[in-house]
Amino acid sequence: MDKKHIFVLAFCLLSGLAKAQMFFGEQKSKQDSAFLSLAATPPMGWNSWNKFGCNVNEALLKETADAMISSGMKEAGYQYIVIDDCWQVGRDEKGNIIADPKNFPNGIKSLADYIHSKGLKLGIYSCAGSLTCQGKPGSRGYQFQDARQYAEWGVDYLKYDWCSNEGQNAEAAYRTMSDALKACGRPIVFSICEWGESQPWKWGKGVGQLWRTTADIRDCYRCKFDWGGVGVLDIIDVLADLYPYAGPGHWNDAEMLEVGNGGMTHDEYITHFSMWAMLAAPLMAGNDLRSMDKTSHEILTNKEVIAVDQDSLGEQARRFMDMGEQEIWAKPLANGELAVCFLNRTDNVWNLNYDWKKQTIYFATQVNIHKKEYTIRDLWKHKYIGTTASFTKAAIPAHGVLMVRLSPKR
Ligand code: GLA
Repeated sequence: MDKKHIFVLAFCLLSGLAKAQMFFGEQKSKQDSAFLSLAATPPMGWNSWNKFGCNVNEALLKETADAMISSGMKEAGYQYIVIDDCWQVGRDEKGNIIADPKNFPNGIKSLADYIHSKGLKLGIYSCAGSLTCQGKPGSRGYQFQDARQYAEWGVDYLKYDWCSNEGQNAEAAYRTMSDALKACGRPIVFSICEWGESQPWKWGKGVGQLWRTTADIRDCYRCKFDWGGVGVLDIIDVLADLYPYAGPGHWNDAEMLEVGNGGMTHDEYITHFSMWAMLAAPLMAGNDLRSMDKTSHEILTNKEVIAVDQDSLGEQARRFMDMGEQEIWAKPLANGELAVCFLNRTDNVWNLNYDWKKQTIYFATQVNIHKKEYTIRDLWKHKYIGTTASFTKAAIPAHGVLMVRLSPKR
């Protein structure tokens, strides 16, 4: 081969390589955006753990799906029904994971079919360790096999825990399951449940769509247990600094909801739900939907608050004013709107008399209280309560909130 031929050959090879690189690059970025779009807004659903622990079975799951529809929760945006720990009992001789035949006599596929027939989606639970937190078989060493099995069953969401992790590197362990899910042939949302130990917000984007940031929630307003439980305020304080990491397709998971489980007052549950919405946190109800009382129902289906959580901008609120135990949080919304939440952490009423003009609620986005006038809508009273041109007065109950939506006045 003379020099000219070598040159032509090299040119062809290099341009072919560049085209292949471009092709694979495009494929990869399509895959990445498909992955993020699986949870373009924070996932909403129900999870069995907070109320039922290990007492999960087919009847409970089906009845919960029915209740999600009859209660109006599906209509309000909830879609995932997630079976947490204890559905699994062992593996067969080929290593396939087996659902408890006593509690799930018809298997997971038939349950998934039922849930899909109602227009809802099924979530399941496993663990990056060899055992789950309740000592059931985990996925370590079986990641790809389990992901294929979930896809075959029609699973839409996987919560993946961190017990018995045997000193693995968390990022590597979660990436392995993420790769397995991406290869399984079915879109499955990946919920990283590593309790915030290795700062998953720093590596979780693109690995999962949401990541837990704390130890397990307890049904209390402010409580920290040395064995690892945390209350609503404890979680809020952890999330306060994590706003740069949240956005469409990648969310800080503030933990599942306790609304309706009885450990907090009505005002505390309103605070819990309002702040989860402000934090753009996934909204996973954790109560018994079949027998929920009127007030829990009103909280969980407050569409105006849910709209703040699900806003397409995907911004997490910032705590921009911290006057001791009286705080003001703000969350920029699409179309130049803003959600503001006055959080009264004290044990006394906060008699608010708020001069919007004196404050600097300013975000680099389009919101500037000094240049524009905004209407103010109380998202719990469902009514307009004035504009930013005058003071806002309110008696905010102990441990309660005033949550409002500001819209540019036309
Ligand atoms: C861990 C998780 C909980 C729950 C239990 C189940 O504690 O953080 O959310 O899934 O395991 O055993």
